[in-house]
Amino acid sequence: MSIGPDPCGPQINRREFVLSVLSTAAVSGGAGQARAQNQAQNQAQNQADAAPDTHAGSVPMSVVVNGEPHSLAVDPRTSALDLLRERLALTGAKKGCDHGQCGACTIHVDGRRVLACLTPAVQLDGRRVDTIEGLAGPGGGLHPMQQAFIDHDALQCGYCTPGQIMAAIACVREGNAGSPERIQEYMSGNLCRCGAYNGILAAVQQAAGQMGEA
Ligand code: FES
Ligand code: FES
Repeated sequence: MSIGPDPCGPQINRREFVLSVLSTAAVSGGAGQARAQNQAQNQAQNQADAAPDTHAGSVPMSVVVNGEPHSLAVDPRTSALDLLRERLALTGAKKGCDHGQCGACTIHVDGRRVLACLTPAVQLDGRRVDTIEGLAGPGGGLHPMQQAFIDHDALQCGYCTPGQIMAAIACVREGNAGSPERIQEYMSGNLCRCGAYNGILAAVQQAAGQMGEA
């Protein structure tokens, strides 16, 4: 191909023509790359917005908490306590030690006493969980154990109280409230920094009679 002189316009030689074509291609190629990059970024952002707020390795699970079914994906490293407190906004179970030593996180799983801080959330899959928030009756009436704690001043700061009450109900239901010694033994995993142990013992004895399960 040869570019001859144009008497009607500016003259251009072959070298200038090739350079102009290459520079045009480079500019349009750069714009195409930028456009593709923008599209990829927009797509990633849209996907991030649509995705649930979970870890990449999350696993699906279903659990019924206080009678309410939940289907959700959880990081396998999440404890049942963190699931309740941080995902389901049920902060009644307390994080005292987070090491299974204080009982503040006590909940019921299928009716049995469990330390939520030591229980992986994924182990709740298909289970029924009850927390302190679910104890009151439909009309807001207190559970006999809650009322007994009030009647006997079985709390001071109250931080240990949800765990104490959940453990105390399990104590009665499992037939361990027949004597002060058995109650104290069963409840020994629930620590109270305020030292409300006498009131707690009296409360468990009162509620045991009312629950009719001692
Ligand atoms: S927080 Fe679970 S036993 Fe202390
Ligand atoms: S009432 Fe304060 S820790 Fe038990």
